[in-house]
Amino acid sequence: MPYVTEENLTDVVLQRWQQIPDPRLRQIMQSMIKHLHGFVREIEPTEQEWFAAIDWLTRTGKQCTDKRQEFILSSDVLGVSMLVDAINHRLPTGATPTTVTGPFHIHDSPELATGAEGLYEAQRDVDEPWLRAIYRTGPDGSYSIRTVAPIGYTIPMDGTVGELMTRTSISHMRPAHVHFLVDAPGYERIVTHLFQNGDPYIETDVVYGVKKELIVDFQRMPPGRAPTGENVDTPFWVVRYDFALKQAAAMKLSGAAAS
Ligand code: BEZ
Ligand code: FE
Repeated sequence: MPYVTEENLTDVVLQRWQQIPDPRLRQIMQSMIKHLHGFVREIEPTEQEWFAAIDWLTRTGKQCTDKRQEFILSSDVLGVSMLVDAINHRLPTGATPTTVTGPFHIHDSPELATGAEGLYEAQRDVDEPWLRAIYRTGPDGSYSIRTVAPIGYTIPMDGTVGELMTRTSISHMRPAHVHFLVDAPGYERIVTHLFQNGDPYIETDVVYGVKKELIVDFQRMPPGRAPTGENVDTPFWVVRYDFALKQAAAMKLSGAAAS
Protein backbone atom coordinates (compact mmCIF):
# COMPACT_ATOMS: atom_id res chain seq x y z
CA MET A 1 0.00 0.00 0.00
CA PRO A 2 1.40 3.45 -0.84
CA TYR A 3 1.75 5.86 2.08
CA VAL A 4 -0.81 8.61 1.85
CA THR A 5 -0.50 12.03 0.31
CA GLU A 6 -3.21 14.64 -0.16
CA GLU A 7 -3.38 13.58 -3.81
CA ASN A 8 -3.63 9.80 -3.39
CA LEU A 9 -5.69 9.61 -0.18
CA THR A 10 -9.09 9.18 -1.86
CA ASP A 11 -7.79 6.33 -4.04
CA VAL A 12 -6.14 4.61 -1.08
CA VAL A 13 -9.35 4.76 0.96
CA LEU A 14 -11.48 3.59 -1.98
CA GLN A 15 -9.19 0.62 -2.48
CA ARG A 16 -9.35 -0.36 1.22
CA TRP A 17 -13.16 -0.10 1.18
CA GLN A 18 -13.41 -2.52 -1.74
CA GLN A 19 -13.20 -5.26 0.87
CA ILE A 20 -16.95 -5.63 1.38
CA PRO A 21 -18.57 -8.93 0.33
CA ASP A 22 -22.07 -7.43 0.00
CA PRO A 23 -22.02 -5.78 -3.48
CA ARG A 24 -24.74 -3.24 -2.65
CA LEU A 25 -22.99 -2.08 0.53
CA ARG A 26 -19.71 -1.93 -1.43
CA GLN A 27 -21.36 0.24 -4.09
CA ILE A 28 -22.86 2.55 -1.45
CA MET A 29 -19.59 2.93 0.48
CA GLN A 30 -17.53 3.53 -2.68
CA SER A 31 -19.92 6.24 -3.83
CA MET A 32 -20.15 7.81 -0.38
CA ILE A 33 -16.36 7.99 -0.01
CA LYS A 34 -16.01 9.49 -3.50
CA HIS A 35 -18.63 12.18 -2.84
CA LEU A 36 -17.51 12.89 0.71
CA HIS A 37 -13.87 13.31 -0.31
CA GLY A 38 -14.97 15.41 -3.30
CA PHE A 39 -17.02 17.62 -0.97
CA VAL A 40 -14.14 18.08 1.47
CA ARG A 41 -11.69 18.77 -1.35
CA GLU A 42 -14.10 21.38 -2.75
CA ILE A 43 -14.87 23.27 0.46
CA GLU A 44 -11.45 22.79 2.14
CA PRO A 45 -12.87 23.11 5.67
CA THR A 46 -10.81 24.52 8.50
CA GLU A 47 -10.49 22.12 11.42
CA GLN A 48 -12.76 24.42 13.40
CA GLU A 49 -15.44 24.17 10.69
CA TRP A 50 -15.11 20.37 10.60
CA PHE A 51 -15.58 20.14 14.37
CA ALA A 52 -18.56 22.53 14.12
CA ALA A 53 -20.12 20.16 11.58
CA ILE A 54 -19.51 17.15 13.84
CA ASP A 55 -20.93 19.06 16.79
CA TRP A 56 -24.05 19.91 14.73
CA LEU A 57 -24.53 16.22 13.81
CA THR A 58 -23.97 15.18 17.44
CA ARG A 59 -26.57 17.63 18.71
CA THR A 60 -28.96 16.59 15.91
CA GLY A 61 -28.69 12.97 17.04
CA LYS A 62 -29.26 13.92 20.67
CA GLN A 63 -32.47 15.72 19.71
CA CYS A 64 -33.96 12.58 18.15
CA THR A 65 -36.53 10.76 20.28
CA ASP A 66 -39.53 8.56 19.50
CA LYS A 67 -41.51 11.82 19.07
CA ARG A 68 -38.96 13.93 17.23
CA GLN A 69 -36.65 13.07 14.31
CA GLU A 70 -34.29 15.93 13.57
CA PHE A 71 -32.32 13.86 11.00
CA ILE A 72 -35.48 13.30 8.93
CA LEU A 73 -36.20 17.00 9.18
CA SER A 74 -32.71 17.82 7.90
CA SER A 75 -33.20 15.37 5.03
CA ASP A 76 -36.56 17.08 4.34
CA VAL A 77 -35.19 20.64 4.16
CA LEU A 78 -32.30 19.56 1.94
CA GLY A 79 -34.72 17.97 -0.54
CA VAL A 80 -33.27 14.50 0.05
CA SER A 81 -36.52 13.04 1.41
CA MET A 82 -38.37 14.12 -1.73
CA LEU A 83 -35.59 12.74 -3.94
CA VAL A 84 -35.72 9.33 -2.22
CA ASP A 85 -39.51 9.46 -2.50
CA ALA A 86 -39.37 10.28 -6.23
CA ILE A 87 -36.89 7.47 -6.95
CA ASN A 88 -39.05 4.95 -5.10
CA HIS A 89 -42.43 6.01 -6.49
CA ARG A 90 -42.12 6.36 -10.26
CA LEU A 91 -45.84 6.15 -10.89
CA PRO A 92 -47.74 5.96 -14.19
CA THR A 93 -49.43 9.07 -15.57
CA GLY A 94 -52.76 9.59 -13.87
CA ALA A 95 -51.74 8.00 -10.57
CA THR A 96 -51.82 10.32 -7.56
CA PRO A 97 -48.22 11.40 -6.85
CA THR A 98 -46.56 10.82 -3.50
CA THR A 99 -44.90 13.32 -1.19
CA VAL A 100 -43.04 13.41 2.14
CA THR A 101 -44.39 11.63 5.21
CA GLY A 102 -43.08 14.31 7.56
CA PRO A 103 -42.17 13.91 11.21
CA PHE A 104 -45.69 13.98 12.62
CA HIS A 105 -46.95 10.63 11.35
CA ILE A 106 -47.93 8.08 14.00
CA HIS A 107 -48.83 4.44 13.39
CA ASP A 108 -51.77 4.10 15.73
CA SER A 109 -54.22 6.81 14.75
CA PRO A 110 -57.63 6.61 16.38
CA GLU A 111 -60.84 6.51 14.40
CA LEU A 112 -62.29 9.92 13.44
CA ALA A 113 -60.55 12.29 15.89
CA THR A 114 -60.56 15.99 14.89
CA GLY A 115 -59.55 19.25 16.50
CA ALA A 116 -60.01 22.94 15.78
CA GLU A 117 -56.60 24.67 15.71
CA GLY A 118 -55.02 22.64 12.91
CA LEU A 119 -52.01 21.48 14.94
CA TYR A 120 -50.83 17.94 15.74
CA GLU A 121 -50.28 16.73 19.30
CA ALA A 122 -46.49 17.21 18.99
CA GLN A 123 -47.08 20.86 18.13
CA ARG A 124 -49.60 21.37 20.95
CA ASP A 125 -47.58 19.57 23.63
CA VAL A 126 -50.31 17.08 24.48
CA ASP A 127 -49.86 13.33 24.66
CA GLU A 128 -52.91 11.88 22.97
CA PRO A 129 -53.15 11.65 19.13
CA TRP A 130 -54.61 14.84 17.66
CA LEU A 131 -55.95 15.78 14.23
CA ARG A 132 -55.54 12.37 12.66
CA ALA A 133 -57.73 9.35 12.07
CA ILE A 134 -58.24 6.17 10.09
CA TYR A 135 -61.14 6.21 7.63
CA ARG A 136 -62.47 3.38 5.50
CA THR A 137 -64.02 3.86 2.05
CA GLY A 138 -67.23 2.31 0.87
CA PRO A 139 -67.02 -0.89 -1.22
CA ASP A 140 -66.83 1.24 -4.40
CA GLY A 141 -63.91 3.26 -3.05
CA SER A 142 -65.97 6.37 -2.36
CA TYR A 143 -65.20 8.34 0.78
CA SER A 144 -66.19 11.47 2.60
CA ILE A 145 -64.14 12.91 5.43
CA ARG A 146 -64.96 15.81 7.71
CA THR A 147 -61.97 17.58 9.20
CA VAL A 148 -60.79 21.12 9.89
CA ALA A 149 -59.44 23.44 7.20
CA PRO A 150 -55.63 23.19 7.38
CA ILE A 151 -53.30 26.10 8.04
CA GLY A 152 -49.74 26.69 6.85
CA TYR A 153 -47.24 26.04 9.62
CA THR A 154 -43.58 26.25 10.40
CA ILE A 155 -41.33 23.24 10.67
CA PRO A 156 -39.93 22.86 14.21
CA MET A 157 -37.41 25.69 14.57
CA ASP A 158 -36.14 25.03 18.10
CA GLY A 159 -33.56 22.39 17.06
CA THR A 160 -30.42 22.12 14.98
CA VAL A 161 -32.35 22.36 11.69
CA GLY A 162 -33.97 25.59 12.87
CA GLU A 163 -30.54 26.85 13.92
CA LEU A 164 -29.32 26.27 10.36
CA MET A 165 -32.45 27.72 8.74
CA THR A 166 -32.08 30.98 10.70
CA ARG A 167 -28.70 31.47 9.02
CA THR A 168 -30.46 31.48 5.63
CA SER A 169 -33.22 33.59 4.15
CA ILE A 170 -35.19 30.45 3.19
CA SER A 171 -38.83 30.35 4.31
CA HIS A 172 -39.37 27.75 7.07
CA MET A 173 -43.09 27.46 6.33
CA ARG A 174 -45.11 24.65 4.83
CA PRO A 175 -48.24 25.56 2.84
CA ALA A 176 -51.63 24.45 4.23
CA HIS A 177 -52.08 20.74 3.58
CA VAL A 178 -53.83 17.58 4.69
CA HIS A 179 -51.81 14.35 4.88
CA PHE A 180 -53.11 11.08 3.47
CA LEU A 181 -51.79 7.54 3.60
CA VAL A 182 -53.97 5.60 1.17
CA ASP A 183 -54.00 1.84 1.15
CA ALA A 184 -56.13 -0.68 -0.77
CA PRO A 185 -55.67 -4.43 -1.25
CA GLY A 186 -53.92 -5.14 -4.57
CA TYR A 187 -52.63 -1.56 -4.97
CA GLU A 188 -49.45 0.27 -4.02
CA ARG A 189 -49.83 2.28 -0.84
CA ILE A 190 -49.22 6.00 -1.24
CA VAL A 191 -48.26 8.68 1.25
CA THR A 192 -49.28 12.08 -0.02
CA HIS A 193 -50.85 15.45 0.83
CA LEU A 194 -53.46 17.73 -0.68
CA PHE A 195 -52.45 21.39 -0.72
CA GLN A 196 -54.76 24.38 -0.74
CA ASN A 197 -54.65 26.31 -4.01
CA GLY A 198 -53.68 29.95 -3.41
CA ASP A 199 -51.73 29.32 -0.22
CA PRO A 200 -48.98 31.97 0.13
CA TYR A 201 -46.32 29.27 0.73
CA ILE A 202 -47.34 26.95 -2.12
CA GLU A 203 -44.24 27.79 -4.19
CA THR A 204 -41.75 27.86 -1.33
CA ASP A 205 -42.62 24.74 0.68
CA VAL A 206 -39.57 24.29 2.91
CA VAL A 207 -39.57 20.51 2.31
CA TYR A 208 -40.22 20.66 -1.49
CA GLY A 209 -43.36 18.53 -1.09
CA VAL A 210 -45.72 20.32 -3.49
CA LYS A 211 -46.56 18.72 -6.85
CA LYS A 212 -49.03 20.39 -9.16
CA GLU A 213 -51.41 17.40 -9.21
CA LEU A 214 -51.78 17.73 -5.42
CA ILE A 215 -52.97 21.35 -5.40
CA VAL A 216 -56.74 21.50 -4.93
CA ASP A 217 -59.39 24.20 -4.79
CA PHE A 218 -61.16 24.69 -1.48
CA GLN A 219 -64.73 25.66 -2.35
CA ARG A 220 -66.44 27.84 0.27
CA MET A 221 -70.01 26.74 0.98
CA PRO A 222 -72.80 28.45 2.92
CA PRO A 223 -74.22 26.69 6.03
CA GLY A 224 -76.21 23.63 5.03
CA ARG A 225 -75.88 19.99 4.15
CA ALA A 226 -72.26 18.81 3.88
CA PRO A 227 -71.05 15.95 1.62
CA THR A 228 -70.83 13.77 4.74
CA GLY A 229 -74.62 14.13 5.05
CA GLU A 230 -74.36 16.29 8.17
CA ASN A 231 -76.02 19.67 8.52
CA VAL A 232 -73.40 22.31 9.27
CA ASP A 233 -74.57 25.61 10.72
CA THR A 234 -71.49 27.66 9.73
CA PRO A 235 -69.88 28.23 6.31
CA PHE A 236 -67.54 25.38 5.42
CA TRP A 237 -65.12 24.31 2.70
CA VAL A 238 -65.50 21.40 0.31
CA VAL A 239 -62.60 19.69 -1.47
CA ARG A 240 -63.20 17.00 -4.07
CA TYR A 241 -60.37 14.64 -4.90
CA ASP A 242 -60.11 11.13 -6.36
CA PHE A 243 -57.02 9.24 -5.27
CA ALA A 244 -55.75 6.99 -8.08
CA LEU A 245 -53.52 4.12 -6.96
CA LYS A 246 -51.15 2.02 -9.04
CA GLN A 247 -51.86 -1.70 -9.13
CA ALA A 248 -49.32 -3.65 -7.10
CA ALA A 249 -46.90 -5.79 -9.08
CA ALA A 250 -47.76 -9.50 -8.88
CA MET A 251 -45.81 -11.13 -6.04
CA LYS A 252 -43.13 -13.53 -7.23
CA LEU A 253 -43.20 -16.72 -5.19
CA SER A 254 -39.89 -18.25 -4.22
CA GLY A 255 -39.25 -21.91 -5.17
CA ALA A 256 -39.75 -23.04 -1.60
CA ALA A 257 -42.97 -21.13 -1.06
CA ALA A 258 -44.45 -22.20 -4.40
CA SER A 259 -43.86 -25.90 -3.97
C1 BEZ B 1 -45.48 18.10 7.93
O1 BEZ B 1 -46.15 18.14 6.97
O2 BEZ B 1 -46.10 17.96 8.92
C2 BEZ B 1 -43.99 18.20 7.85
C3 BEZ B 1 -43.33 17.56 6.83
C4 BEZ B 1 -41.94 17.64 6.77
C5 BEZ B 1 -41.25 18.36 7.73
C6 BEZ B 1 -41.94 19.01 8.74
C7 BEZ B 1 -43.32 18.94 8.81
FE1 FE C 1 -48.18 18.29 7.98
